[in-house]
Amino acid sequence: MYKINAETAIFFHERLYKPLAKIAQDYVKQRKLDNTTLKAFKIGYSGNYNELYNHLISKGFKENEILATGLVNKNDNGEYIDRFRKRLMFPIMDVNSKVVAFGGRRLENNDKIAKYINSNENLVYSKKKHLFALNLAKHSDSKKIILVEGYMDAISLHQRGITNAVASLGTALTEEQGRLIRKYSEQVVFSYDSDGAGQEAIKRGLEVLESQGCDARVLQMEGAKDPDEYIIKYGSGRFNLLVENAISLVEFKIKVLKQKYNLDNANDKIKFLKEITRILAKIDNNIEREIYIDKISKQYNISKEAIYGEVNKTLYKESNSNSSANILSRQAVNKEEVKSDISDSQLKRENVIIYLLINHLEESFEEIIKNISTNDFKNELNRRIFEIILENINAGQDKIVSSISNIEDENLQAHVSTIMVSDYEITSVKKCIEDIIVTYNKDKLISRKMEIIKELENPNLSKEQAYGLEQELNNIIIELAKNK
Ligand code: UTP
Ligand code: MN
Repeated sequence: MYKINAETAIFFHERLYKPLAKIAQDYVKQRKLDNTTLKAFKIGYSGNYNELYNHLISKGFKENEILATGLVNKNDNGEYIDRFRKRLMFPIMDVNSKVVAFGGRRLENNDKIAKYINSNENLVYSKKKHLFALNLAKHSDSKKIILVEGYMDAISLHQRGITNAVASLGTALTEEQGRLIRKYSEQVVFSYDSDGAGQEAIKRGLEVLESQGCDARVLQMEGAKDPDEYIIKYGSGRFNLLVENAISLVEFKIKVLKQKYNLDNANDKIKFLKEITRILAKIDNNIEREIYIDKISKQYNISKEAIYGEVNKTLYKESNSNSSANILSRQAVNKEEVKSDISDSQLKRENVIIYLLINHLEESFEEIIKNISTNDFKNELNRRIFEIILENINAGQDKIVSSISNIEDENLQAHVSTIMVSDYEITSVKKCIEDIIVTYNKDKLISRKMEIIKELENPNLSKEQAYGLEQELNNIIIELAKNK
């Protein structure tokens, strides 16, 4: 079968250069395929009637062998008829460049005839196991593989320097094709037609690849119906930019969802939020989840608190219904974590520290100054009072009180009296300080966490820097989970 397929490819290819192939020559010119491409892909032109059959017989192949390839059929009258007639022929090769099947494109502009016909499955060809052009793409220097739908897309990209393109030939990516890709690359970029019909197919394909440990992304294309048209219109530079900006499965799912809703409508926005929550709650990796929440909040103008709130609800429900859930990796995110301005509880905490330092100086100051510094105070007045206390700490409580009283600032005086008359119900100074310090350390971790998430978005980060930050982030998340 390999021999017959190889002989057939040569027969079709040589025929493309003969005068009788004018219609095919005009067509490849119109499609802007150059001669190097025609040779590299062994593109051809099939004959009429039983020309292939006669050719193969003349080469010494037997009738039953030829029929087994499916390249020729025998009709009820016992006549032989070639399967592919007067079509532009694309040999499908396996990874070792052996021809295993063919696709043939119609050359007439006639919608009544099938645009493509392909070989049936046979001994050497299984549609769901092969990828068109992988035999060439495997030699590409790129770490990525670009997955397109059609013969013409793959060929057109190769001709313009994108030599890592392969085609799944109109089907959704199968498990077998996924495994095949995975052998050659860990990064796959889907570049399917922009008609939208294929969104489900793309989702499934991405899921297949992710489950096999691939980093799978989707290229977003506008202004052309498929990669062939795009690259002819805009060039390979712009196509490469699209590859660089390809989005992940999560982002893709959210983008697809968004098309269902009008985000200017409050009801729609709530429904949208609920649906994206389900997607976000499925992400096992905390770092990833937080990065997405940050992005989504910006992109769709939804507050982070709202997203965290919904995600928490979902995670909470899940962890209750699934006791074996890994608590660490599915840690919910505290709502307070995202508030940047000082919250009521934070202010109260600061006030209590000042209260303790003024009223219980001896018992409290060592622990407090060991753990808390001026910059930890978010409230300006508390920060100033804390500074004064620090300056006078060795002179004792009376000196501190008189220094504070001597400051001529109405706001500050009013604030101090508020603190002094508040009933903080402090039963144990020691316990109170401990609680505050735990909360402070947690706050520090949380703000560092938010900082890292921001830093990770910086496109100029080196791999090492990003890795370092991710490690730090992971440690913070683990630390925070411990203190829950
Ligand atoms: P497309 O219609 O997008 O084909 O179908 P294309 O490769 O871009 O071809 P042009 O640009 O129209 O010439 C994508 C793939 O789906 C399969 C083929 O493998 C095709 O490349 N297909 C499509 C068929 O098998 N049969 C068809 O009738 C149509
Ligand atoms: Mn096309």
